[in-house]
Amino acid sequence: MSKQANFHECCQAFAASYEISTLPAMQEVERSVLGCDYGGTSWTTRAQAGQIVESLALRPGVHLLEIGAGSGWPGLYLAGSSSCDVTLLDLPASALAKAMRRARDEGNAGRVLAVAASGAALPFRRAAFDAISHSDVLCCLPGKAEMLAECRRVAGDGARMLFSVIYAPPGLSDDAYREAVEVGPPFVDTPSPYAEMLADTGWRLENLTDVTSDYLQSLRRLVRAFEQSDALAEVLGRDAITESIRHRESQIGVIERGLLVREVFLASAA
Ligand SMILES: C[S@@+](CC[C@H](N)C(=O)[O-])C[C@H]1O[C@@H](n2cnc3c(N)ncnc32)[C@H](O)[C@@H]1O
Repeated sequence: MSKQANFHECCQAFAASYEISTLPAMQEVERSVLGCDYGGTSWTTRAQAGQIVESLALRPGVHLLEIGAGSGWPGLYLAGSSSCDVTLLDLPASALAKAMRRARDEGNAGRVLAVAASGAALPFRRAAFDAISHSDVLCCLPGKAEMLAECRRVAGDGARMLFSVIYAPPGLSDDAYREAVEVGPPFVDTPSPYAEMLADTGWRLENLTDVTSDYLQSLRRLVRAFEQSDALAEVLGRDAITESIRHRESQIGVIERGLLVREVFLASAA
């Protein structure tokens, strides 16, 4: 199967996952795991979202681009808590429609725009944004350098970009690397280190924070919540829950052995 076909399947899987992640029983689980209920599929916690507001100096008048915005986590929260403007961009239009419904319900629709497009071919003019964020998106698509270059093109003078990403750290044996790729997000393998890709695409790395231990704790909370949620088992079925728990436990094992890390990169337009 070609990489292209895999990517297509991956997009369909994300579209389907937003139908599940926005179910009330799943939102209850999300509140206990990440502290929010936007139907998120990344591992960005509410505390980390607060740090995004600070790191990107989000405030009224700032225009933020959130790539891989899904059903609104954390882009809508960032706009709501800082009163900045936000453009939410993702491929599944159904997830963006959910985000826009929530923006309307919260009275923020006037500052929120949703665009169905690829992060690797942004339909915006040069220097259109003051700030850019994406949560665990680069590990979900093949064109990582293309997306970083596109982000740089649409970033204005002095713009900052903050993103989290999950990857296999350098120095693993071939077997360990294969295991990390097998168990991690769909496009966890990288052609070159993120710091290098940032430099090559015109970004200056300002700060790097290892948030692997938060990621691990969130996964452990998720497994506990899955084990305890009768409401979720009723909606999704016991077999699906058992399979999810098995998958998450294998991720926990791989992270505990240091085969996957989650880091937050803060960069400025060089
Ligand atoms: C791990 S999810 C994060 C979603 C959301 N921001 C969150 O925090 O819950 C990754 C997202 O990236 C999106 N994505 C994957 N490839 C993309 C692409 N080429 N362009 C834009 N979004 C993409 C997926 O559809 C998915 O919504």
